[in-house]
Amino acid sequence: MMQSPEVHQLTDSPKKPSFLKRLILVVLGTFAVFVIGIQFVPVDRSNPPVTQVVDAPQEVMAIFKRACFDCHSNETIWPWYSKVAPISWVVAGHVENGREHINFSTWDEYDAEDRTDMIEEIWEEVEKGAMPLPNYVRLHSEAVLTEADLAVLKAWTGGGSGGHEDDH
Ligand code: HEC
Repeated sequence: MMQSPEVHQLTDSPKKPSFLKRLILVVLGTFAVFVIGIQFVPVDRSNPPVTQVVDAPQEVMAIFKRACFDCHSNETIWPWYSKVAPISWVVAGHVENGREHINFSTWDEYDAEDRTDMIEEIWEEVEKGAMPLPNYVRLHSEAVLTEADLAVLKAWTGGGSGGHEDDH
């Protein structure tokens, strides 16, 4: 009504974002759309049926359950961050890959030779600290293997005895 064009100019011009601000907004906006978008990529977080659990004494099982089952069984406990892409892709990849190598929930799928090989490998991996995966241990302090755990695993796997060295 009575407002003069100058007033408009005064109120409008400071609101006009600078080129840099607009650029930042566009980058952030694109990033947000991307982050939201990737959440819709399907990730397999299934826990297939357990057909036969590895046959191991209770003290060994306790270690496996604590430190290995999330990646080497069909009883994976999927943490909240396993539902957020792109971390979910890494976690699901570890589980898929881990289960492929050795799955304590499908022990019936392995013959005697497979089992012997796996048990040997378990000690090899654990002894050199490659398993459980160090990144996993960082987020799961309960998966740290103590000297006592190592002793239990060493005894069960026959680690260091050199018992199976001949057949490879
Ligand atoms: C965070 C997931 C994760 C955890 C926890 C984990 N592993 Fe693994 N494991 C893997 C992956 C992935 C592979 C496949 C090889 C690789 O990528 O290094 C693997 C491979 C293996 C292999 C086969 C190695 C080979 O060269 O074929 C053995 C044996 C093994 N793991 C034992 C264990 C044992 C024993 C534990 C518990 C003390 C354990 N893993 C805990 C993810 C895991």
